[in-house]
Amino acid sequence: MSAPENSASTPRRFAPQGPLLGEIRVPGDKSISHRSIMLGALAVGETRVTGLLEGEDVLATAAAMRAMGASVERAGPGEWLVHGVGVGALLQPQAPLDMGNSGTSTRLLMGLVSTHAIETRFVGDASLSGRPMGRVIDPLSQMGAAFAASEGGRLPLTVRGANPAVPIEYRLPVASAQVKSAVLLAGLNTPGITTVIEPVPTRDHSERMLRGFGAELSVEEVGGANGLERLIRIRGEAELKPQVIEVPGDPSSAAFFMVAALIVPGSELLIRNVGLNPTRAGLVHVLRAMGGSIEELNPREVGGEPVADLLVKHSALKGIEVDPAVVPSMVDEFPVLFVAAALAEGTTMTTGLEELRVKESDRIAAMAAALTAAGARVTETENGLTIEGSGGEPLRGSANSRVKTHLDHRIAMSMAIAGLASRDGVLVDDTRPIATSFPVFEALLRQVAE
Ligand code: S3P
Repeated sequence: MSAPENSASTPRRFAPQGPLLGEIRVPGDKSISHRSIMLGALAVGETRVTGLLEGEDVLATAAAMRAMGASVERAGPGEWLVHGVGVGALLQPQAPLDMGNSGTSTRLLMGLVSTHAIETRFVGDASLSGRPMGRVIDPLSQMGAAFAASEGGRLPLTVRGANPAVPIEYRLPVASAQVKSAVLLAGLNTPGITTVIEPVPTRDHSERMLRGFGAELSVEEVGGANGLERLIRIRGEAELKPQVIEVPGDPSSAAFFMVAALIVPGSELLIRNVGLNPTRAGLVHVLRAMGGSIEELNPREVGGEPVADLLVKHSALKGIEVDPAVVPSMVDEFPVLFVAAALAEGTTMTTGLEELRVKESDRIAAMAAALTAAGARVTETENGLTIEGSGGEPLRGSANSRVKTHLDHRIAMSMAIAGLASRDGVLVDDTRPIATSFPVFEALLRQVAE
């Protein structure tokens, strides 16, 4: 999934620097932001969202819902008003929906339009156009939708929605919240009960928010072949009621600052407003198991999700073997965990990461190459990385040769953090993708590390 060389790329060198001190507030959660706009756009009346992440991915979702008839307007910083059309009433967009870099927008919206009587074309950037969509095409075809996709089930693709659609019972073949959510959103406009069986729990924001908007949704845990499975049932032809939503801070964005504070000597950083939904909090547990000092202060609930402020102090980290069972609860945090491992004492071993190969980039290969270029000792396996840490010694860095980010925001930010704990700094080839999920990343970094 390598991106073509692009003359508009914006390289930047992230230099070693002093301790990260003070406090920051993390912007809104990307997953929850997407969902609040989508569901608001299906509820008749006004949904008010505060703390919305104003990154390019979420803006792509907002533009798509507008193109299908909803009114989605910015009322102030992070404050958005959505007037929805009602379940079943999405309009056929007049032009292809440009999803940019966003897999979440694409897969969730494919689900939504699949059970509306409209034809929708999806296009995206080079990274997104390399990602597999067969995982949502399969269940949505069973519900009656028809697809014309590019080779290998990729974008650009066109969906002809089924109406009425057929309710299905679908067992997820991969642990994917996007696939689960696509089927549940398709189920919203399907007569009867649509069921998703989830053998391994993944982020449950869709379930929480669908209920919040008044959908009839139940979750039952039953014994399966490999432990407990979740049966998620949604009753279709739902009527959603508009909501007031406060989006909690994104733990996946906080992750970069958590690791930065742990690996830069002398750091003591308070990260406010971090969402700690158990289906997202894996990194905090793994970093603590490595010896990281991360204290949870002021635990509370925001927008129906557990949230706390995290006080993170520089710590001597130790390598560990990461249990593959935690992967779904930190699936987006492995690139930055690899950076922490590169500074730890001893060996960190990760396995069960095959899904990382189909993210915005092949994150196993991309991080192996980037960390090696920065002087870390990394071995790539089929489904993970094994990293020999430096024991706290700064990495050599990569001052003059650019590390490649492959249009992947999380590779760019992870290597920026590696630069802080290096001797020569790290030259990141392209920082533009950071704007997809964390537009204020560099500004916050300057704020706490001067
Ligand atoms: C997401 C689910 C995850 C994650 C992505 C956001 C979501 O993807 O990597 O960043 O909002 O549902 P998968 O479902 O592919 O694991």
